[in-house]
Amino acid sequence: MTIRNPHRWLRWPGGVSGPRMGYGADYNPEQWPRDVWDEDVRLMREAGVNIVSLAIFSWARIQPEEDTWDFAWLDDAMDLLHANGIAVDLATATASPPPWLTAAHPEILPVTQSGETLWPGARQHWRPTSPVFRKYALLLVEELAGRYAEHPALTAWHVSNELGCHNVYDYSDDAAQAFRVWLRDRYGSLDTLNHAWGTAFWSQRYSAWDQVLPPRLAASHPNPTQQLDFKRFSSDALKEYLRAERDILRRLTPDVPVTTNFMVMGGTKGMDYADWAREVDFVSNDHYVIPGPQSRDELSFSANLTGNIAGGQPWFLMEHSTSAVNWQPVNLVKKPGETISDSLTHVAHGADAVCFFQWRQSAAGAEKYHSAMVPHAGADSDVFRSVVQLGDVLDQLAPVVGSVRKPARAAIMFDWDSWWASEQDSHPTSHLRYHPEALNWYSAFRELGVRVDVVPAGAELAAYDLVVAPILYVVPQQLAKELAAYVDSGGHLVTTYFSGIVDENDHAWLGGYPGALRDVLGIRVEEFAPLLPDETVELDNGTTGSLWTDKMDVTDASVQVLASYASGDHAGRPAITRRTAGEGSATYVSTRLGADGLRPVLDAALGAAGISGDLADNAGGAVELVIRTTETDEFWFLINRAAHRVELSGLAGEPVIGPEIAADGSMALEARGVAVVRRPVE
Ligand code: GLA
Ligand code: GLA
Repeated sequence: MTIRNPHRWLRWPGGVSGPRMGYGADYNPEQWPRDVWDEDVRLMREAGVNIVSLAIFSWARIQPEEDTWDFAWLDDAMDLLHANGIAVDLATATASPPPWLTAAHPEILPVTQSGETLWPGARQHWRPTSPVFRKYALLLVEELAGRYAEHPALTAWHVSNELGCHNVYDYSDDAAQAFRVWLRDRYGSLDTLNHAWGTAFWSQRYSAWDQVLPPRLAASHPNPTQQLDFKRFSSDALKEYLRAERDILRRLTPDVPVTTNFMVMGGTKGMDYADWAREVDFVSNDHYVIPGPQSRDELSFSANLTGNIAGGQPWFLMEHSTSAVNWQPVNLVKKPGETISDSLTHVAHGADAVCFFQWRQSAAGAEKYHSAMVPHAGADSDVFRSVVQLGDVLDQLAPVVGSVRKPARAAIMFDWDSWWASEQDSHPTSHLRYHPEALNWYSAFRELGVRVDVVPAGAELAAYDLVVAPILYVVPQQLAKELAAYVDSGGHLVTTYFSGIVDENDHAWLGGYPGALRDVLGIRVEEFAPLLPDETVELDNGTTGSLWTDKMDVTDASVQVLASYASGDHAGRPAITRRTAGEGSATYVSTRLGADGLRPVLDAALGAAGISGDLADNAGGAVELVIRTTETDEFWFLINRAAHRVELSGLAGEPVIGPEIAADGSMALEARGVAVVRRPVE
């Protein structure tokens, strides 16, 4: 396992020694009268809370006017928390600029693609590239870091909040300026940019840098490479902003680790967190459950990817919810047991801290119907009782702290470039979605009871016997070589429709699809054949395809057709193929099969790679197994996803939490129950 940066973990204040799980929330005392704070810390102690993120949205409270600073309340809060043994992950408070700032400097406000300036009135109304915003925000960071550098409660820095949640794409003049600088750095010359962007098309050739713009609302489809580069640039621009805050913090408080809360979840795709992870001292993530049949697979997928972005090292779950959120069309409450099992799924994938948004449910403001650790109903509530119970469980999990992810033998490759580029406009279908395809593979692994790592593109593949790279649309020459070498050296590669299609500039590889992967797959596709939204095709292995088909020919004698189309325009043609090369193989799936339909393909690929599940029995797919490890011990997290009790067999080890394992190796796991079993490393 490669660790890309030396992650520094929290140091606990107040002389606490020995490992412990972090447990807490965003704490917003500025929303409450002072006497409520005393009740807050009393309840925090009752729940076992030992860390809070403070001051996230406090800019207007700390600096009520340009020349007025008020730290007295924050001093009080820091002291109170410290006196109660609660560490502080102190925010830099820059997430939401105060009204005096936007009134004096409306030029910091973001601009939409169609040129509308966004007004203040919510939050995160700032341009990532605004020099004026940066000046004021960095002054605030400097003041905070100077004031609290020596405060004994300060245990980590929380840069801004969910950078890019609302402002990743800004089309302002500041953005245009910064985009040109970024492009000069990438391309060096206008000729190179003109080539990369394919500006011979539609008379788009640039003759001076100041003609180049962000992809603002245009008369028709904007240049696709310009769009892709703008996505890359926008992620980088926020990363640069993160670095600017971080550098001040590192200068003033070199011993205090710096983090910022990522949003590795569902469709949040604007920020390339695999790239950002190099910039922080430890990785933090926010995750909210997205309702639907794959809600817990998605949670697990996100936690898994976060753990691998963190290089397998422990990470910090900065936010999730005790129950409902406020921002979905319908905000579902959590079912009994879910607050704990969701939390422990994150822990299973490497989280050593479990925190919520937020400590006390707000009485006013846009998020007043968002759940919290202390709900509107008060401490006499099922929500608070489950919070206390979770605190107790996390206490018992102290032995797990500091252990790392045990790598799986299979990986799903997750590539931000392909995500961004594959979903752009003017493609064979506008219905293609990258993340759900990757998630379907993940669900299929879980159903089969086989552990898999979700790894960012660029991760070392050699350690994996099987790599699934769904919709790997962008394949530069170098990646094509690496994948061919992986297969040649005995690796098993699986990829899907719309993979290997373009290079890093979004130029099609010529000679037939999937250009860059044609040889390794031993196939050639003359035309894509996408399906209408309600159209499906049958395959002769009994599964059903949707979204996409290919007009495919086999070009290599070693290719075996695993399934053919049995209906539709391409009936009789291959649908799923596998080329073998020595010990290795390369499988291609030309249609969307869904989580269930992928199971036989995956089963065959696992068989070819000689991979089987770690569990003797996964209760018909109900139980997810995740393993963390130290040099001496493994911790097996057994997570029952089902709403009913399940019986497991073939287990060994001592319970850290959950039921005992009987002498015959059996264990009963309650509905949505989680067991953690400790066993020596074999
Ligand atoms: C994000 C933000 C929080 C809050 C929650 C609500 O995670 O960081 O401030 O808005 O969403 O779910
Ligand atoms: C029109 C335009 C062409 C091309 C086609 C694509 O006919 O004149 O330049 O864009 O549409 O269908």
